[in-house]
Amino acid sequence: MKQLDCVRLIDLPKHEDPRGNLTFLEEDNHIPFKIERVYWIYDVPGGQIRGGHAFKEQQEFIIALSGSFDVVVDSGTEKKTFSLNRSYYGLYIPEGLWREMINFSTNSLAMVGSSTPFSENDYIRDYNDFLKYKGL
Ligand code: TYD
Repeated sequence: MKQLDCVRLIDLPKHEDPRGNLTFLEEDNHIPFKIERVYWIYDVPGGQIRGGHAFKEQQEFIIALSGSFDVVVDSGTEKKTFSLNRSYYGLYIPEGLWREMINFSTNSLAMVGSSTPFSENDYIRDYNDFLKYKGL
């Protein structure tokens, strides 16, 4: 079962250019999984919280393509908060951890690369169920 020390910020290549900067991401190179799905979260009203859940299998990589937000990752016994506010790095979260996205700035855009296609069965949406799943 994955714990918080597997969660990490990953820097991506950044090509600085007077015409504008460019960053890219290759699966299995910059991040440790193959991307099966990409989704993005936007137009988040002030104060709203997204993603209060865990995944049994899904690993993910979250980038703030625009604006800023914080990701709180929780193992059931310990929590860590990561601030995302640049488009040239992202947060890798393995499966089996509870996470929430908070403090969205105006016009923020969160892009998530996922290791699995969408499956509601992969979600643990109840925190007590999550603690049971972790054997806590
Ligand atoms: P959810 O993952 O609960 O959003 P968040 O983690 O941001 O709170 O997803 C919201 C709704 O969108 C839910 O009904 C499932 C649906 N959904 C899909 O159909 N496909 C997807 O790839 C995702 C991420 C969500």
